[in-house]
Amino acid sequence: MNRRILAALGAAALALSMAACSGEGAGSGTDTAAQAPSELKIGVSMPTQTSERWIADGNSVKEKLEAKGYKVDLQYANDDIPTQSQQVDQMITQGANVLIIAAIDGTALSSQLQAAADKKIPVISYDRLIRDSKNVDFYVSFDNYKVGVAQATALLVGLGVLNKDGSPGTAKGPFNIELFAGSLDDNNAHFFFDGAMDTLKPQIDNGTLVVKSKQTAIEQAATLRWQQETAQKRMEDLLTSSYNDGAKVAGVLSPYDGLSRGIITALQNAGYSGKMPVVTGQDAEIASVKLINDGVQSSTIFKDTRLLADQAVKAAEAFLKKQTPEANDTKTYDNGVKVVPSYLLPVETVYKDDIQKSLIDSGYWTADEVKAGQAK
Ligand code: BGC
Repeated sequence: MNRRILAALGAAALALSMAACSGEGAGSGTDTAAQAPSELKIGVSMPTQTSERWIADGNSVKEKLEAKGYKVDLQYANDDIPTQSQQVDQMITQGANVLIIAAIDGTALSSQLQAAADKKIPVISYDRLIRDSKNVDFYVSFDNYKVGVAQATALLVGLGVLNKDGSPGTAKGPFNIELFAGSLDDNNAHFFFDGAMDTLKPQIDNGTLVVKSKQTAIEQAATLRWQQETAQKRMEDLLTSSYNDGAKVAGVLSPYDGLSRGIITALQNAGYSGKMPVVTGQDAEIASVKLINDGVQSSTIFKDTRLLADQAVKAAEAFLKKQTPEANDTKTYDNGVKVVPSYLLPVETVYKDDIQKSLIDSGYWTADEVKAGQAK
């Protein structure tokens, strides 16, 4: 080896060891309880910026942590699994003391989580449960089964089968409905669909509801990566394959506002207008809140991401102070390896009449934003 190569190798080795030093410390065995917040860093990994809710989540968590003096490394992974793995790897090597992760694929981060565990970095699973790993320390989310129940109930209320107070309505059907589910690699998609199907099944069994396409299994109803275009395409295909005899769609179970907008577009392109089929949703995204206000979408499920961010921050702080975060559920969320202690928040159904009280009065959206269908 000539000298130049040796010198270059020496420089590279030095750079590497310096990087290791600056990255080290952090999680690895340091007594974070004795450190000031300004010396501590929290890695926040969010799935995508294509949906408002994750932008709001990321911003809320960051702001709340920074207000307490912590350093924050917030990254979005563009719904790409290798990108998220790489971002989490980097958070670990750059010295994160706690990780808050909303996974794209709940099973894809095992090696990152092992690296975190090796450095004693606590991992908080944010909204979506990370599966098949023992290295998940806490879970903050909403009551996801109840989200599904609320979506199915909103479908029944929209059709008039139930009244808002849960009592039987006057409508008897039969109503043609179609079912959509989220991304199968997201643990929540299963909870939403289970909650919804447990609620709808009696009405399907007694003939009040008819799934005309017969696509009632989650694998048939699923929407990879929760993509709006995928839902629009599937709705178009359903209309062509199952409604070419003049039959009409009366309602669609949709688990997320982005999918609902795709479904509504497909319906409108097929000629549905005026009183639209009942379409449900989730997340109170501003474009959908406007559609609800305009009578196009029937309902959404509001999950206050500000409250979720509060819980994530509380859990992170508890870990940094070497305490155990407060859980309110220690039974439901088995990730395949262990039951992850969880803090679950309640959810709220929003119909047109609830927009003012639930979304505007609470400061989630302004009246102008609802009118425009756009966040300021
Ligand atoms: C979240 C939902 C969201 C969906 C798509 C789920 O994991 O719980 O709030 O609509 O992902 O982003």
